Amino acid sequence: MTIRPTILVFDSGLGGLSVLREVVRARPDAHYVYVADDAFFPYGHHTQEALIARVVPLMGDLIAAHRPDLIVIACNTASVQVLAPLRAAYSVPFVGTVPAIKPACAQSKTRRVSVLGTKATVQREYTRALIRDFAGGCEVTLVGAPELAALAEAALSGAGAADDAIAAEIAPCFVGDPADPTDRTDTIVLACTHFPLLLDRLTRLAPWPVAWIDPAPAIARRVSDLLGPSGPTADPAGATMVFTSNRSHRLSEAFTPFFGGRVPA
Ligand code: DGL
Repeated sequence: MTIRPTILVFDSGLGGLSVLREVVRARPDAHYVYVADDAFFPYGHHTQEALIARVVPLMGDLIAAHRPDLIVIACNTASVQVLAPLRAAYSVPFVGTVPAIKPACAQSKTRRVSVLGTKATVQREYTRALIRDFAGGCEVTLVGAPELAALAEAALSGAGAADDAIAAEIAPCFVGDPADPTDRTDTIVLACTHFPLLLDRLTRLAPWPVAWIDPAPAIARRVSDLLGPSGPTADPAGATMVFTSNRSHRLSEAFTPFFGGRVPA
């Protein structure tokens, strides 16, 4: 491993910034390349065949251009469908983002857990297998939110997202007797990396309080373990942001908090 590792963080859009933020905190010594495949957004609306055909060759180009030491697929929709073909095609280590069903079910007291992802993520066998293996007797409700990732993109880009639109997307997660805290959903898995970007809004619009499970800290720990000991210094200049649509970088400065204060080139 090089002294200053290059970590490439990949998503369909801005959602992966919720993962990047935690990885940068864990590894300030690394150089970061954030890639938003916004020309193909939203991934949740594509078939598995289309996503594999898009992401596998694109990743080859990104590896050739940026020579990363490690790649984080900061997207549940891509991870549950494309991680295996990516690992088969390239020798760079990949860290995926998959629905955090195991920790959610382990901590739920009411044994009612919801998984809030894109339609594709909740439909795929990978997610169903996680439930079979790790639900531990919990009742798990799968909720495919068709528009929530796009609402998060709009909110983060400054275009705004209406409360009632967000509330409608999350409503099916809330199952059971609203008046009985022992008999209703108490834990919701954020199974799309866009959703933690709306956490304040989700918390405010929830019909009752729940624990929202964001996998980003666990992903950051995994990245750090794979890279080994940190280098001696932070790399305050080291960040690049790539949009496959070639959209303008006008907003880059707004993203600096996610890059630990670096202004991405
Ligand atoms: N951020 C992506 C995820 O974690 C999905 C958004 C999309 O549909 O492109 O699933």
